[in-house]
Amino acid sequence: MNNRLFIFDTTLRDGEQAAGTRLGSADKLEIARQLSRLGVDIIEAGFPSSSPEDFEAVSLIAREITEPVICGLSRAVAEDIQICGRAIAKARRPRIHTGLGVSDIHVIGKFNDDKYGKTLEEKRATLLKMAVNAVKVARDFTNDVQFFAEDAGRAHRPFLFEVLEAVIDAGATVLNIPDTTGYAIPEQYGALIRDICSKVKNSGKVVISVHCHDDLGMAVANSLAGVKNGARQVEGTINGIGERAGNAAMEEIVMAIQTRQDYFCLKTQMKPTEFYRTSRMVAAKLGMTIPPNKAVIGGNAFSHSSGIHVDGVLKERQTYEIINPEDVGFPASRIVLTARTGHAGVKHRLEELGYTFAKEELDQVYQRFLKVADKKQEVFDDDLAAIVRDEIHPVPEIYRLDYWNTSTGKGTIPSATVRLSIGKDEVEIAAWGDGPVDALFKAISMAANKPVELKKYEIKAVTSGAKAMGEVNVQLEESGVAVTGYGASTDIIEASAKAYIDGLNRLYAVREERDHAL
Ligand code: KIV
Ligand code: ZN
Repeated sequence: MNNRLFIFDTTLRDGEQAAGTRLGSADKLEIARQLSRLGVDIIEAGFPSSSPEDFEAVSLIAREITEPVICGLSRAVAEDIQICGRAIAKARRPRIHTGLGVSDIHVIGKFNDDKYGKTLEEKRATLLKMAVNAVKVARDFTNDVQFFAEDAGRAHRPFLFEVLEAVIDAGATVLNIPDTTGYAIPEQYGALIRDICSKVKNSGKVVISVHCHDDLGMAVANSLAGVKNGARQVEGTINGIGERAGNAAMEEIVMAIQTRQDYFCLKTQMKPTEFYRTSRMVAAKLGMTIPPNKAVIGGNAFSHSSGIHVDGVLKERQTYEIINPEDVGFPASRIVLTARTGHAGVKHRLEELGYTFAKEELDQVYQRFLKVADKKQEVFDDDLAAIVRDEIHPVPEIYRLDYWNTSTGKGTIPSATVRLSIGKDEVEIAAWGDGPVDALFKAISMAANKPVELKKYEIKAVTSGAKAMGEVNVQLEESGVAVTGYGASTDIIEASAKAYIDGLNRLYAVREERDHAL
C-alpha cells in the first residue's frame, strides 16, 4: 500500500469555528502562510457560505497561498456549494469539502422535517440523493471533491457504506470518515477504516481521510488507528483546538508518525521544526494559553526536574527524551529579551516565532519592544506577539479610555468612573459591580452603549515579584461575533481596562470588515 500520508489542516475552519474568537482575514492569511511553511498538504481555509467574512478570508487565502491545496467546507446544499466554489476559484489547487450527517441520530435529529421523508428509511433515501447531488455540483467547480460522512463513528454501517459507494461513483476523490462526537475507541475506529478499505466498492480509487474529535481524549489515538488501518489523509488542528474538547492535535499525530516510523512506515512532507512557531502564532492570535504539559509543544514538554531524570538527561539525552526539542522548533539557546537586547536579537526571536518583516516594520516593532522592555524584566513570546498584533495589524482606535478610576474596600460597594472617547464624542459614566474590574467593565460598556457580552476573562502574571506584569485576555461577543482583546500592565485593573477597550475596537473592526464584505 502507498506509504504517503497527506496532512489536512482544519485550524482555520473546525479550529477557529470553535475557538469562540473571530480572526480577521489578515490574521487568517498569516496563519495560512505559516501552515504552508509547516508543509501541510491541504488547508481547510473556512466555511465560505457561513458568513461574508469567511467567504472573503477563504478567497484571500485561495489567491495568496499557492503550495497547499486550498479547501472550503460546504453543506450538501447546491447554493452553498456554489458559494464555496466561487471562494476557492482562484486557488492553484482548489478543493470542495461537502457532506452531511449519516448516523441515525443525525438523520432523524437534523433532518426531522417531513420533507426529507417520514420514516428513517425514507430519510436515508433522501440523504443518499442529496449526497450524490452535492458531489456532482461540487465537481462542476473542481475535480478535487472531498465528501464527509458526518458522525460516521456512530453510523449504521450498511447505510454508511451505501453512501460512500454512491459518492465515489458520483466523483468524490477523498472520503472523510469523521468521528464527529469523539465517541470511538481506537480498535473500533481502526476496524471501521479497515472495513471501508476492504468492503466499500472502489474505495481503493479514493483517499480515505480520518477526522477525530477529542471528547473522550482519544482523538489522536483514533486518528493513528485509522491511519494504521489504511487511511492516507489525516485531519487535525494546531494545538488540538476545535469543537468542544477539540480536534486531533496535528503536532501530536505528525510527531507520532515520525518518531514511530518503525511502526507506521509512513511519510509526510511536514517540516516539524515549524511546529513551535505555528503553535505559538495560533495561540497568540486566538488569545489561547497552551497548557505547559501539552505534548510536543507545551512549555514543559522538554523540562526535566526530578534528580534522577536530570542526571539521566545530562548523561544521555535519550534516556528521558524521545523527541529532540529542536526538531519541533524549540529555540535551541533561549535568548532572554530585555531592555538591553539589540535589534538583531529581537529580529532573531521574531523569526523563531514565524514573523518576518520589512525593515521599517521591524523598526516599528523594535521601538515598541523597547517601551515594553523598559517596564518589564523580560519580554516574553506572548508580549512579542501582542506587539506585532498592535503595530503591524493595528485596529482603528475608535474607543479610547481617557480617564478611569475605581474604588473598592471592605464594607464598600466597588465602583468605577470612566471617561470614554468614541470617535469625536466623550462620555463620562459611573457604575457599580461585584469587584473593581466588574464595575470598570460595566462603566465602559455603558459608556460605549454596546450590548457586549463578556464571555471570558483571563489574567496571568508574566513576571514574579511586586512589580509583576499582568496580562489580561478578554473575549467579548456581540451579535454572535466574538473577539479577543489583550492588555498588559503592572496594574491588573489597567491591564483589564486595556483588554476591554482593545476588544471593543476589534469588534468595531470586524463589523467594518463585515459591512465592507456585504
Ligand atoms: O466533525 C465533523 O464531522 C466535521 C465535519 C464537518 C467534517 O467537522
Ligand atoms: Zn470536526
